[in-house]
Amino acid sequence: MQDMSIERIEGKAFGATVTGVELRNLGDDEFAAIHAAFLEHGFLLFPGQHLNEQESADFGRRWGELEFGGQALANQRKHKDGTYGEIFDIDSQLMRTNLGNEAWHTDSTYKPYSSKCAMLSAVIVPDEGGQTELADMRSAYAELDEATKDRIADLSAYHSTNYSQANDLGDFPQSNGEGAYGTVYHGEAYLRPLVKIHPETGIPSLFVGRHAFGIPGLPREESRALLRSLMEFVVADERRVYRHDWTPGDTLFWDNRFVLHRARPYDYSKPRYLIGTRVAGDASELAYLPDDPRAEAGRQALAAELAILRTEAADRRYGATTAAR
Ligand SMILES: [Fe+2]
Repeated sequence: MQDMSIERIEGKAFGATVTGVELRNLGDDEFAAIHAAFLEHGFLLFPGQHLNEQESADFGRRWGELEFGGQALANQRKHKDGTYGEIFDIDSQLMRTNLGNEAWHTDSTYKPYSSKCAMLSAVIVPDEGGQTELADMRSAYAELDEATKDRIADLSAYHSTNYSQANDLGDFPQSNGEGAYGTVYHGEAYLRPLVKIHPETGIPSLFVGRHAFGIPGLPREESRALLRSLMEFVVADERRVYRHDWTPGDTLFWDNRFVLHRARPYDYSKPRYLIGTRVAGDASELAYLPDDPRAEAGRQALAAELAILRTEAADRRYGATTAAR
């Protein structure tokens, strides 16, 4: 414990680097200090951990129930004997989903329970590109002008990955994803407030990202313009954006309840293999369940939006490299 050091990321409104600790062998005092740092800083970088799948899942389980643990978030499979398979074709649904994740998002907002937190551990990374970027919606909300705060105070948006894939890529998956992505293209849309009160700190943040659309009560173009302007505001100040250049062995861990992330492009013919673990949200992250009467409005909003995007997004395939689409 006396060796652990937690240092803020220089020049940024959020984030810290944690050294002098082994995540695979963490004492309760160390975990308590990491938990406090996580709430304060929003993301934590742990260099030199070299976690395997089991260790990644075990660390995740200390935070809550897992959505998935120790899974490949990668462009290739890993075989049971430890060797790696061929790199996925760019046209595969898995790669289309990976490319979608190059637009800003928080995880699982398109599920009944949005995610609490997530981690990535780097195994194989390309020489260029393929970074992970994080953005701070907590300091963004604090720095919004009062008129905008008033305007959005009671607004919500639907969240759906059927929407974001269509809007960002012109991708209309008919089937569900492979591997860790599981059944993400389910045709439901979940309503979530644009201003989120953090369940553990009580601090408000913006809550937007690529999955958000269709603010009830606003015309479609006004809703799109507002969501775009809020997203652009979050990433307009470099103090609110952190780019992580991966070194194998790094583990990056973040709070999905106010920190956005995205992957950056790279040469997709080169291997990129990260181990991912995602922790499910607690009751605070529940929008509603699919059998709730409120779910029908989301289903209808999504179907109407997709009908428009089938024409509007027809030329967007593989264009997801910016937040502003
Ligand atoms: Fe993600």
